[in-house]
Amino acid sequence: MKQVVLRAYPKGAPSVGDFAVETAAIPKPAAGEVLLKTYWLSLDPLIRFSLDERRLTGRAQVRPGEVLYGGAVSRVEASNAEDFAIGDWVEGRTGWREFAAIDPTAVPLRKIDAVAAPPSSALGLLGMPGQTAHACMIEIGRVKAGETVVISAAAGAVGTIAGQIGKLLGAKVVGIAGGAAKCRAVEALGFDVCVDYKADDYAEQLAAACAGGIDVYVENVGGAVTQAVLPLLKYQARMPVCGFIAYYGLGLEGPGPDRLPGFMRTIMSRGLEVRGFGGAMVAGQKALDDLARWHGEGKIKLTETVVEGLDEAPAAFAGIFSGNANVGKLVVRVAAD
Ligand SMILES: NC(=O)c1ccc[n+]([C@@H]2O[C@H](COP(=O)([O-])OP(=O)(O)OC[C@H]3O[C@@H](n4cnc5c(N)ncnc54)[C@H](OP(=O)(O)O)[C@@H]3O)[C@@H](O)[C@H]2O)c1
Repeated sequence: MKQVVLRAYPKGAPSVGDFAVETAAIPKPAAGEVLLKTYWLSLDPLIRFSLDERRLTGRAQVRPGEVLYGGAVSRVEASNAEDFAIGDWVEGRTGWREFAAIDPTAVPLRKIDAVAAPPSSALGLLGMPGQTAHACMIEIGRVKAGETVVISAAAGAVGTIAGQIGKLLGAKVVGIAGGAAKCRAVEALGFDVCVDYKADDYAEQLAAACAGGIDVYVENVGGAVTQAVLPLLKYQARMPVCGFIAYYGLGLEGPGPDRLPGFMRTIMSRGLEVRGFGGAMVAGQKALDDLARWHGEGKIKLTETVVEGLDEAPAAFAGIFSGNANVGKLVVRVAAD
């Protein structure tokens, strides 16, 4: 079988050369383990946290020579575990490989209904990114009808879902994404407008789109994207800090200048509520139920970008940090389902 291992710790943004595709023997499940065949692999920015030589956040850590960490949808091929039978579809952090022998008491596996929804949706709309979008807008963002919400990384897995939830809640939803094509795709999902942060007049366009001020800013990025948002925040705005992808791989200190003084001033003078969170933990099963219902009612679209084959996973993962044309959840089809 094929598997992807880390060749070297990435320096800053990951590149294809940091990874290697290897051939290995298909594992045999030990007592208590299941043998899983991977069908869909999830490529998420959070995987970057597991690739720092010095672990800064998150529990997982991958060292050179080890198989990459990440979520996947698989089917049980053989089972020595009581609660799992051959043919069960499961979702869990089982790694970048075609087969995996997993102890479900060590790596939690969620059974999924592969008939009710496409199996890959368990990695996006009906999985962790969906729960995170729900948390951004409902549990943490507390978005209300008539408010103006700005969402960065709007074309991504979380952003595309969060924006659609925002419209269901009756808010004005402004997306921020890289490039005109991504912005048009975001608007096609129902966002009121999407602003291209790569445009020369990005800050002016954002100010024009948010003329009455911003009630909620869903932070996914940081850096220059956020610098243009801060002056537009209303008094007592909420800022769910979902992610900060512009800083992944930078360690704990950026190259400077230090913009914390300006940020502190905004927090204090605007009464800004800044709150980080783990989306899956905060929104839980309630989010999955809501999203499945909204999707069933045709109120939320399932949007995916599919990459074919495990060989392509390193390039697709690197593209998350260095520019891509993806809209929605990025998944790799490891085997045809
Ligand atoms: N708190 C949680 O529980 C939780 C859970 C899931 C995800 N997250 C976070 O949520 C954010 C979005 O995740 P996702 O799953 O939606 O990711 P995704 O689908 O992979 O989309 C990420 C997008 O971020 C944009 N981006 C990358 N580097 C950037 C930079 N330097 N400046 C501006 N934009 C940049 C890119 O789009 P453009 O082409 O538009 O630049 C990229 O496609 C990430 O920060 C992630 O870590 C948090």
